[in-house]
Amino acid sequence: MATKFHHPTFSKNFLRRITQVKNPDAMIEDAKQEGLEKTLGVWDLIILGIGAIIGAGIFAVVGIAAAGGPESIGAGPALSVSMVIAAFACVFSALCYCEFAAMIPVAGGAYTYTFATLGEFAAWMVGWVLMLEYAIGFIVVASAWSNHLVQFLHGFPLPQMLFKIIEPHAMTLMIPPGLPLNFSFNVPAALVIILSTMLLVKGTKDSAKMAGVMVFVKLAVIAIFVLVGMFYVKPANWVPFAPNGVSGILSGAFIIFFAYIGFDAIATVAEECKNPQRDLPIGIIGSLIAATVVYVLVALVMTGMYPTSGAVPAAFLKAPMAFVMSEIAHIDWVAGFISIGSLAGLTSVLLVMELAAIRILYAMSRDNFIPKHLQKLHPKFKTPHVLTWGVGLVSIVGVMTLDLNVATELCNFGTFTSFIVVCVAVLILRHTAPDMERPFKVPFSPWFPLMGILCCGGLMIYSLKSLTTSALLFPVWLGIGALIYFHYGFKSNRKYENEVHLAKVEQKKLELELLK
Ligand code: ALA
Repeated sequence: MATKFHHPTFSKNFLRRITQVKNPDAMIEDAKQEGLEKTLGVWDLIILGIGAIIGAGIFAVVGIAAAGGPESIGAGPALSVSMVIAAFACVFSALCYCEFAAMIPVAGGAYTYTFATLGEFAAWMVGWVLMLEYAIGFIVVASAWSNHLVQFLHGFPLPQMLFKIIEPHAMTLMIPPGLPLNFSFNVPAALVIILSTMLLVKGTKDSAKMAGVMVFVKLAVIAIFVLVGMFYVKPANWVPFAPNGVSGILSGAFIIFFAYIGFDAIATVAEECKNPQRDLPIGIIGSLIAATVVYVLVALVMTGMYPTSGAVPAAFLKAPMAFVMSEIAHIDWVAGFISIGSLAGLTSVLLVMELAAIRILYAMSRDNFIPKHLQKLHPKFKTPHVLTWGVGLVSIVGVMTLDLNVATELCNFGTFTSFIVVCVAVLILRHTAPDMERPFKVPFSPWFPLMGILCCGGLMIYSLKSLTTSALLFPVWLGIGALIYFHYGFKSNRKYENEVHLAKVEQKKLELELLK
């Protein structure tokens, strides 16, 4: 008689297992044993935050948000209103991040919070989605960095040979039509990825210091733009204020949302904070407020200097701040400074995005979702160097192959999803662990978390109206994630549980032997 095959890992407890949550206290205990160095204070966090937030968004994407692009209409001078709307969409999620970051200050951010509320499978999926935000975002910014460098160097009398080497050039490979791949040989992007990876292997504190220098340079450059530019503002350029009405303002808000991505990266380094309960909320909200103020000022000055209600030249869309400074004010040295500031800005965003991707993978390897040996810390620098180099090398492949528009959209999808999950998770944990100590509480709960879900969900659905490739690739990404989980993560977690169980049995046996 044939025996019925019964796979041991897929038992009737399957559902219970994949929704098994991790106890927050156990997470904190685990983290204490791991030994990432606690070196970050409140200023390091604010700098990391501003370092992660202010970058390609304000130096490049802002042009399309104001004047419109191939698939979107612009906000015009009402760009400052779009900036505030996008900031509102972020602030509700930011408050939810703060509640969690102060309560469970361990590495991993949204991934960790999901494990504490929605269980193992959801946590893996959120970690997987966060790779879109940070790892794919990292690739997008590396590529923007390369474009800015080439553009900056064109201002100098350098040999043409150099440009032949550093200008990204397409490789003629047979790619089936429709695939969002774009093989190009991009030397500066690969080099900057290697440099940032080396810095991160050397240590978080060094990277925070480096990000600090970059933050200072980019803020100084933005301050010069605002202070010089305000003398060239013509109020006539602000009329009509909203040439495309509410649709233009909302479309601008959706696009410029990209400029705010990054504040959540602070929560991923929670384990390396000296005083996470107090400093994390200050770091997250502080950097978000600082970015909003900077963005609104830039939007007002830029749209006041240059008319954005009608058609604009391509150069405005590529580097709007530098363009208006040389076109309107005719001050080339300020325009040159702005180019340097953009490079600095993009460098700090690069560092923080790569750091966040690595810290999430680190937390995932600790939870047996990816092989443990990737978790190994560097003997001297105490950083997860194997993971760090892994992310660096995969990113080099990514920057040479991915279509960057699609990559940017996927990055947005990942971010929206993680923000929504964090808002949901706050509501769940308030219900399942009402008495847990919360050094920081989202005010007006459940309304604020609900507003976060509504704003981010609304923007995500709004974007589906015009996007096609990324809207298709996002579910494909989720599907691949689910397959990996059932093929590896689920099984390795059960194996781990078995090992823990056997160790306990052995221990009990030993105790009984001793009592005899
Ligand atoms: N907010 C980041 C930037 O603007 C992603 O570059």
